[in-house]
Amino acid sequence: MRMVDLIQKKRDGHALSEAEINFIIEGYTQGTIPDYQLSALAMAIYFQGMNSKETSHLTMAMVKSGDTIDLSPIKGIKVDKHSTGGVGDKTSLIVAPLVATVGVPVAKMSGRGLGHTGGTIDKLESIDGFRTELSAEEFIRNVNEIKLALVGQSGNLAPADKKLYALRDVTATVNSIPLIASSIMSKKLASGADAIVLDVKTGSGAFMKDLEDARALAKAMVSIGKELKRQTIALITDMNQPLGYEVGNANEVREAIEVLRGEGEAGLTTLCLTIAAHMTVAGKIYPNFDSAYAELDKVLRSGQALETFKRFVEAQGGNPDQIDHPERLPQSTYHLELEAEEDGFISKIDAEAVGVAAMLLGAGRTTKDDTIDHAVGITLRKKVGDPVQKGEVLAVLHSNDEEPTGSLERLKRAISIGQEKVNKLPLIYDVIH
Ligand code: URA
Repeated sequence: MRMVDLIQKKRDGHALSEAEINFIIEGYTQGTIPDYQLSALAMAIYFQGMNSKETSHLTMAMVKSGDTIDLSPIKGIKVDKHSTGGVGDKTSLIVAPLVATVGVPVAKMSGRGLGHTGGTIDKLESIDGFRTELSAEEFIRNVNEIKLALVGQSGNLAPADKKLYALRDVTATVNSIPLIASSIMSKKLASGADAIVLDVKTGSGAFMKDLEDARALAKAMVSIGKELKRQTIALITDMNQPLGYEVGNANEVREAIEVLRGEGEAGLTTLCLTIAAHMTVAGKIYPNFDSAYAELDKVLRSGQALETFKRFVEAQGGNPDQIDHPERLPQSTYHLELEAEEDGFISKIDAEAVGVAAMLLGAGRTTKDDTIDHAVGITLRKKVGDPVQKGEVLAVLHSNDEEPTGSLERLKRAISIGQEKVNKLPLIYDVIH
């Protein structure tokens, strides 16, 4: 087989076979196929696309390029969740202990954040002593005992994806549905899940700005799941404004604790219950979505999921006292209030701009080697559609810099007030099975 012939085949709009895709991914991982040929192929895929069989073959080839995690020592159906990333997205911190409480084993690998969206691992590291590296034995033992363990992504999961993603990043080929779908699914499948619930975000703060693109990505990932016999459900959810009120690390953990106490913001709580309900149905704990949702709502309000969260934090070396007293999580020195300059209704909260404002405070990374300040972030006091009066506080900026001018300016521009009454934004646009 010659790589040049395969590039030409895809360039001319033909489908690649399983053997051809395996040849490409093996060669690229081993270094016998150079970056320039894979760049050309990625661009051909960008323009010509891939059918569902090709996309599944590509996914499996990337899974096979590295280690796979064997979760068979864990009893029960392992259900994973994945979000395509959003601002203020702390759902994993809530959903994982919630489903674990009712018996779904959660053996989760999470990433760190880059750019304007934060990673679950970064958020958890706001808790003193919390360890995101566990030995394989500890990981399995914790999942069997507490039903929940969460670690950082291991070095050698889907290395072909790592290499290809870095190449796509510098060749303007990230935004290709089959390439994104296979990239995400290869990591989920390599980490051993039996079933997967995907939260595909759409809107200004999401990777997929447009609803139709988000739907196409969701369908592509569900189709990979079907081809590879892992039940996969994708929700398409709103990211036109940050999720909940908090954006940052320690403050997002505080908000997650509020939800786990049954006192969280309504939209965030509903989304968490919805994701958890799909996970527990996939995990065969409840027979259908409605009964799952109703039961999980009760569990959340009973405080049992908060207890699970505390046990999980303690089992991974974190200080449980900070879960009982979230005000003891890291706090910044300065708290700057942004006030409304006129009466009206909140017409827009640009999620990406809020994410960038938080990142500039130090809550996120611009390069993967940056360190994070867990104490800083932004608290929104309003959601789109809320009425507002001149002088009311719209948001609070938690900063360790006395004058975070760049961040404040961005935040000001991110929140718009209009004179007309504005509808609340939808939360969930679609569910793809
Ligand atoms: N996230 C991934 O993991 N891969 C992509 O290709 C895009 C987003």
